[in-house]
Amino acid sequence: MITLGIETSCDETACAIVKNGRVLSNIVSSSVHLYSSYGGVVPEIASRWHIEYINAVVKKALKLARIDFKNLDLIAVTYGPGLCGSLLVGISFAKSLSYALSIPIIGISHLDAHLYANFIGKHSSRFPKFPFIGLVISGGHTSIFLCHSLNDFKILGNTKDDAIGEAFDKVAKILKLGYPGGPIVEKMAKKFGKKDFIKFPKTYLKNYSLDFSFSGIKTAVLYYTKNKRVTKKLIAKIAYSFQEAVFDVVVEKTLMACRKYRINTIVIGGGVAANKRFCRKIKIASRARRISFFIPKIDFCLDNGAMVAALGEALYEKRLMSREVEVQCKTISK
Ligand code: KG4
Ligand code: ZN
Repeated sequence: MITLGIETSCDETACAIVKNGRVLSNIVSSSVHLYSSYGGVVPEIASRWHIEYINAVVKKALKLARIDFKNLDLIAVTYGPGLCGSLLVGISFAKSLSYALSIPIIGISHLDAHLYANFIGKHSSRFPKFPFIGLVISGGHTSIFLCHSLNDFKILGNTKDDAIGEAFDKVAKILKLGYPGGPIVEKMAKKFGKKDFIKFPKTYLKNYSLDFSFSGIKTAVLYYTKNKRVTKKLIAKIAYSFQEAVFDVVVEKTLMACRKYRINTIVIGGGVAANKRFCRKIKIASRARRISFFIPKIDFCLDNGAMVAALGEALYEKRLMSREVEVQCKTISK
């Protein structure tokens, strides 16, 4: 089976070709460089970028995979969550392809796809085993799921305000580091000697909640820099202290979910999972509790079409299109 996957939920125009679970091509065209002066994605600019590049990205993915349109069996497309205008470009393109080629189309949740990235490029014996706790840490989400099967992901906790990636981006904006903030904050944090770090607030919320809140720490960073000469040394100290505080909360809440639901596998996805310090922290914490954890390769942490195509293929082959996906799919299928 050959599947073409399209992902346009935010600022990346992405397309991949997957054949029976194997990624033949994975093309991403990012508009990220356009936002450094804004400190965040501008939805209108992102959707215009998708319109301009989607044709070329799809053609390149097919060419690299040596696949012709007529060889395709299935189209998978992200239906949400994401920026409305951006999603609309990918969905309209996918819908037109499905109609013109008379092949089925399947709508994919962006968050489920981020978790499914952990199933890509592996023999099935090395797939994460259900049930597991799913953690999506990205620019738009900080979400914990209880995952029983490919089409049964129950949300346990969500962000109440800023998502973790958004907090990284906003802190980078305060420190005038450019956009996207995550990679540059990580780089600056590495320059700090770890002595006498700043105790920024760690927000846990009441009653052992699995929800998250990162707007407080962002404001704390803003006030901390007020009336100070923000030197490179201070930036490194703030970056390190911020990173430690937010990751401590995420790691602790993920382990709390494991304890509560007696699960011993964690599956992680989303752009922030590319952070090496986070990987180290979750590794140490989960090993100590004999919990196994999965993080995708860096290309599959960030937004990509392969995770969409691979999940689409898996759901379609197992006839596991959940009710929710079917309903959402109806709005975009023929
Ligand atoms: O998953 P993603 O590519 O797009 C969304 O679905 O949002 O994640 C993008 C987010 C951005 O906020 C970016 O700053 C963050 O992931 N990010 C990182 C790192 N690389 C990307 N955050 C922390 N450390 C990183 N190395
Ligand atoms: Zn994403």
